[in-house]
Amino acid sequence: MTFGQTAPDTGKAAPKKLFIKTYGCQMNVYDSDRLAALLARHGYATVPEAADADLVVLNTCHIREKAAEKVYSELGRLRVMRDQRRSETGRPMALVVAGCVAQAEGEAMLGRAPFVDIVVGPQAYHRLPELLARSTREAGGQIDTDFPLESKFDLLPQGPEESPVSAFLTVQEGCDKFCTFCVVPYTRGAESSRPAAAIVAEARRLVEGGARELTLLGQNVNAYHGDGPDGRSWSLARLLHELAGIERLERLRYTTSHPRDMTADLIEAHGALPQLMPFLHLPVQSGADRVLQAMNRGYGRDDYLRIVDALRDVRPDIALSSDFITGFPGETEEDFEATLALVERVGFAQAFSFKYSPRPGTPGAAMTKQVKEAVRGERLNRLQALLDAQATAFNEGTLGRTLPVLLERPGRHPGQLVGRSPYLQAVHVAAPDGLLGRVARVTITGCHRHSLAGRMEPHGPITASNGIPAQPEEVVA
Ligand code: SAH
Ligand code: SF4
Ligand code: F3S
Repeated sequence: MTFGQTAPDTGKAAPKKLFIKTYGCQMNVYDSDRLAALLARHGYATVPEAADADLVVLNTCHIREKAAEKVYSELGRLRVMRDQRRSETGRPMALVVAGCVAQAEGEAMLGRAPFVDIVVGPQAYHRLPELLARSTREAGGQIDTDFPLESKFDLLPQGPEESPVSAFLTVQEGCDKFCTFCVVPYTRGAESSRPAAAIVAEARRLVEGGARELTLLGQNVNAYHGDGPDGRSWSLARLLHELAGIERLERLRYTTSHPRDMTADLIEAHGALPQLMPFLHLPVQSGADRVLQAMNRGYGRDDYLRIVDALRDVRPDIALSSDFITGFPGETEEDFEATLALVERVGFAQAFSFKYSPRPGTPGAAMTKQVKEAVRGERLNRLQALLDAQATAFNEGTLGRTLPVLLERPGRHPGQLVGRSPYLQAVHVAAPDGLLGRVARVTITGCHRHSLAGRMEPHGPITASNGIPAQPEEVVA
């Protein structure tokens, strides 16, 4: 039995049904969208339920043990679903595991879950239609975890004509930094940057399709150094300046940046470009130099603080976010307290924090001084209490202020839209659908755990109907 075909579909046959479940970071979200666009060309329509699908793709994440284990429990459920579907309707369901678990486990995945049809790594997605066409249960599962020379970006189609108001755009992939806790350099491969012209062209298409905000993505986005159309290598700052020239593009963001690549030109861009939003995710991981060194992060506590101060000099309202790991091998109570002290000193608007999870094949997993699970957990709780208090204080600090809010999508209630403040806070506001994609002046009236509530100011949206800002995007205190 064959699951797919290599030639683009003529559109005559009934569409086959595709379900994609995405785990992990925004780069996986971007990849899943491109994969759906590719498979649409081969006759697949996306459906919301796995049970209805002829093809199920799990786009997986390997970053922590929990993330990787989730994939196997999901596969167990899907296997039951598939058998039931076959016995009730006689229809097959192809199971594809894509993403970072696929890359990391390859062959071993078929050992543990032999009912999987295809295991495909993050750099080989463009080959999926071909793999599907070849796929027969009799032949057993197939694996493609190559890092091919051809770039998936050249071969994966753009998404549909219509873009979301806030869209992702991957500009850089992979990582050469080899932090001792992290699997990314192994799952995504060496660092590489897309040519600037291809990014600018994709950005223009997204804006034509309705995007008003772009978030540039990369595992190490500020290590970006793509070929520029002028024959030079472009930095992320240079690229941001170029993108800021695109008409009707209101907002730019980028993630995830590494402190080591926070260059002077990038810091300056935060002062120079009004489109660049005053919010930066800049993971520090730990506040103790000994731990940072053991992690191979390539910066110390003071370097991080200097970057924060320089950013605040050029953009005083910039809000910061970070990732933290508690209980990295060798972390003492004193080291952990240095992390708490750094958090106190910086003041974060938002943060993600994790217990250290030893990952197979990484140097950290082989270190002798592993911290007890209970201690990792206890430190995580203390850190999260502090970070939660800071996030709440930050959100409450916007109460009563009037902020420019980019209205992105309809809310749960009729007549309600959801948008984002410059600081990436979700804001619910009563507003007509016609304002979707516009930046409105919104006074913050309520503060909930994960979002804010606001009221549109009577003098209406900030942007004129042609989308050109009628006045610069400024925070009105
Ligand atoms: N490139 C980014 C991080 C990408 S991974 C950077 O350098 O900052 C996202 C986050 O997952 C990391 O920032 C880290 O906090 C967390 N993480 C990665 N590996 C981990 C591990 N083995 N255990 C616990 N957390 C981990
Ligand atoms: Fe992982 Fe470090 Fe690379 Fe970030 S910089 S992706 S944490 S190896
Ligand atoms: Fe996870 Fe891979 Fe992203 S491991 S965090 S999905 S790069």
